[in-house]
Amino acid sequence: MSPFLITRTLPEEAADAALRADVLRGLTRTPKTLPPKWFYDAHGSELFEKITELPEYYPARAERELLMASSADIAEVTGARTLIELGSGSSEKTRYLLDAMPDLDTYVPVDVSESALTEAGHRLVAQRPGLNIHALITDFTTGLALPGTPGPRLLAFLGSTIGNLVPAERARLLSSIRSLLSPGDALLLGADLVKDEQVLVAAYSDAAGVTAAFNKNVLSVVNRALGADFDLDAFEHVARWDATNEWIEMRLRSRTDQTVKIPALDLAIDFAAGEDLRTEVSAKFREQGVRHELAHSGLELTRWWTSGPLYGLALARPLPPRAGARPYTSLRPSPSGRPS
Ligand code: AVJ
Repeated sequence: MSPFLITRTLPEEAADAALRADVLRGLTRTPKTLPPKWFYDAHGSELFEKITELPEYYPARAERELLMASSADIAEVTGARTLIELGSGSSEKTRYLLDAMPDLDTYVPVDVSESALTEAGHRLVAQRPGLNIHALITDFTTGLALPGTPGPRLLAFLGSTIGNLVPAERARLLSSIRSLLSPGDALLLGADLVKDEQVLVAAYSDAAGVTAAFNKNVLSVVNRALGADFDLDAFEHVARWDATNEWIEMRLRSRTDQTVKIPALDLAIDFAAGEDLRTEVSAKFREQGVRHELAHSGLELTRWWTSGPLYGLALARPLPPRAGARPYTSLRPSPSGRPS
């Protein structure tokens, strides 16, 4: 096998169709919403990398410090020969895990961004000549078929990206992950923790305005892909803490009454002055909640590392299926786009 292989299981047309469907569904309902996965074109991915360096955005630093401190433990208790990473992006923090795993056979980075995967893949080939790298371009929320690689396998889902899913979506994804794990495999999950509201809100409304630009970038993505005429200056960036759901919401608030045309969908969307478009939820977690959500999806929390009160890293193992229970959801895409 060549040391660097890249497989596209998400055809470009499928990504385009998914964007159209999300824009149509999200902008014709009340309140209006768009899913956060559309932030990440090349410019959005760059802005996100900038966010991780902001003084207010503590999650990236906290997770990095945790990985630095716990990677040796993780390598030892998992004995992993394959590392699979969902939403790998630049694979930058993965360095700590990779460095702690000299005997790793294969690394499988999974992301929607081909540019991020190619860049990271070539960098890693140079740094770790013996390592097999099989990158997958796919949307892991709709389907994931993994290559056959040696076990034990460690599946990492970092960055608290799980927080961008609402509880029902989290349960579906965790159950799907469970269905991919064999006895001896493990899941490593990064989860940002519930904390002081001011700290949370500041992390999503930085003084330099990088998060505002990142938020508005989703409008540029829709403009480019669907010929829409969103005026980015006609929207205001809003970040608010929802104490009931324990999540941060990012919104774009229309500054005026306005109509936006989306030619590719033959749509005209009215915004009232002050009306919000929700672009992201970023759920925050507690240890008990993480334990419970994992258990609900057939996974047992076996280790829990924290960086003070800021951030948590969970290691979980697949529980044997309960007698008489329905098998856990498979991650194979069904015609509806949802796991069957
Ligand atoms: C790290 C992708 C989960 O929710 O914190 C950063 C993205 N959004 N600032 C998060 C994000 C606004 C993010 N994820």
